[in-house]
Amino acid sequence: MSFDHFDYKGARFVRKVHTEESLNHAENEFEVFDDDIYNVTYPKSGTNWMIEILNLIKHKGDVTKTNAVSIHMRSPWFEKVVSCKHIDKLDSPRIISSHLPHHIFAKSYFKSKAKIIYTMRNPRDVIVSMFHFTKILNIFTPPDNFQDFVEDFIQGKSLYGSWFDHVKGWMQMKDDERFFFITYEELLQDHRGSVIRICKFLGQELDDAQIDLVVKHSTFQSMKDNPMSNWSQIPSEIMDQSKGAFMRKGISGDWKNHFTVAQSEYFDKIYQEKMKDFNMSFFWEQSS
Ligand code: A3P
Repeated sequence: MSFDHFDYKGARFVRKVHTEESLNHAENEFEVFDDDIYNVTYPKSGTNWMIEILNLIKHKGDVTKTNAVSIHMRSPWFEKVVSCKHIDKLDSPRIISSHLPHHIFAKSYFKSKAKIIYTMRNPRDVIVSMFHFTKILNIFTPPDNFQDFVEDFIQGKSLYGSWFDHVKGWMQMKDDERFFFITYEELLQDHRGSVIRICKFLGQELDDAQIDLVVKHSTFQSMKDNPMSNWSQIPSEIMDQSKGAFMRKGISGDWKNHFTVAQSEYFDKIYQEKMKDFNMSFFWEQSS
């Protein structure tokens, strides 16, 4: 995966989008408020889906309120250079996104009562989603071939470093009451049930009709059709959606259309090695 990058504490970042200063600020100086809600993911795991869900929950399903601000500014990534100005405009409770690995996350979080929702996705589908994403976002040199792309992902040469380290790092918090984890696949399988679980974790009481609205406005099709949620407000020099949609397929298992049998077996072997000391199993380990 080719992009102008630098490494910071073992993870890989895009030059200009991040700087050493922005990361140092995020890690050591950023002030977390007790009522903040953090939407944390490894890239391409359903970050924007969760932004939509959390903002709709905050506004009890009122899409006119969530549509007041385009999705890329609604819940900014606090580690990015450009985000400060957007974060300053957020009202309480702030919903803030991050792809940072656990070991670089805001230190002030660990002394706060703020909540984190961590969304994970089958890494094979993350690879595929990222592969297509690199063709439309100008920070990337479009990949030569899929095999090299998979290898870079395995080696942790992707955006934000290793998926394996990210998941293992964050899941150290799995028993913390301020931490909620969910998978993209659970969201797909039971969208409404997942929204109810998230509301419960956040202590938000929505009635049935409000939950229905949250679900209705956060389906793949609603978000794809919504100019405030489909990233079409980003200039095409930065993200060229004539080459592929940001809201691409929104399914689980598209990896089967991209991996050869040999690539899939190779990935399984690496996955097992890297996750062997990790005593949790995920849905995708049975179904892949
Ligand atoms: P695909 O490329 O597989 O379609 P992120 O927001 O972390 O960048 O993740 C983007 C992925 O989430 C894309 O996956 C996108 O289509 C998918 N996605 C976004 N909103 C979704 C929704 N409402 N339902 C299902 N998938 C969604």
